[in-house]
Amino acid sequence: MKLQVFAVLFVIAGASALPAASEVVVVDEFQYQLAPKNQVVDQIKWTIELISNILQGLGLDPVEWEGSELNIEIPFLLKFNAFLENFRYAGISNIEIHNLEYDRFINKLDLDVSLPEVIFEVGDSGLYINVLSFFEILDAEFRGSISLKSIRVAAEVSVDINIIGGISLRSLSINFSLGGVESDLTFKLNNLDFSGLFNDFFNETVNNFFEEKEDQINKSLEIVVGIILRIIWAF
Ligand SMILES: *[C@@H]1O[C@H](CO)[C@@H](O)[C@H](O)[C@H]1NC(C)=O
Ligand SMILES: *[C@@H]1O[C@H](CO)[C@@H](O)[C@H](O)[C@H]1NC(C)=O
Ligand SMILES: *[C@@H]1O[C@H](CO)[C@@H](O)[C@H](O)[C@H]1NC(C)=O
Repeated sequence: MKLQVFAVLFVIAGASALPAASEVVVVDEFQYQLAPKNQVVDQIKWTIELISNILQGLGLDPVEWEGSELNIEIPFLLKFNAFLENFRYAGISNIEIHNLEYDRFINKLDLDVSLPEVIFEVGDSGLYINVLSFFEILDAEFRGSISLKSIRVAAEVSVDINIIGGISLRSLSINFSLGGVESDLTFKLNNLDFSGLFNDFFNETVNNFFEEKEDQINKSLEIVVGIILRIIWAF
């Protein structure tokens, strides 16, 4: 009997291991066995779906705009043209769950989620300013896309739970990875072509940065998330 009480306490404590978790405990009176459902996993799945639905509901994924144009013309004095066509930004609500497991006995959560692709596209855009009909101040064009492939976060969180249900962080491991940045942009300013510079920056400099700093990014995330969890669990 003592063991049963302890087991029930343990599961209840386990249920509060995660802020959003609540556990349903089904006690089979005849078998004296606990058959709890793993609601921690369900709650996390539900939360991820909720985040995804909120992002879509707020119109943040996708963001699409067929564009607009502004023309101002004052004869012999000013010619101004600005336009944007087919703007699109998509992918932030497409959260894929690769792994989600919660081990109630050692209070360990494994989570591995990703955004397969976040893309930013501009069909075409330009800005043209001409004064006194011969002095071309600005003639810029910009179009193309930047795509972030496979933004992935894998985390392993272990907690200790005391007899009154207080939670403390035992260990935390977070691995962040970026599959890659692909940039295919055209940017021209007053007949100078900066496209190569832009593309190299995104698909080389940024890619290398994430590759080289992987360990530091993981550690920084672990520190920040660790602090947040400790604060949440302190109350
Ligand atoms: C993070 O990567 C390290 C080294 O590759 C590995 O030992 C650790 O288990 C990984 N953690 C997670 C949560 O995937
Ligand atoms: C950081 O995360 C990346 C990507 O998952 C992994 O390859 C690397 O081993 C991790 N580094 C450490 C120190 O955990
Ligand atoms: C970067 O983008 C440019 C222009 O699209 C392309 O020529 C180049 O191969 C790309 N480099 C990498 C490493 O993807």
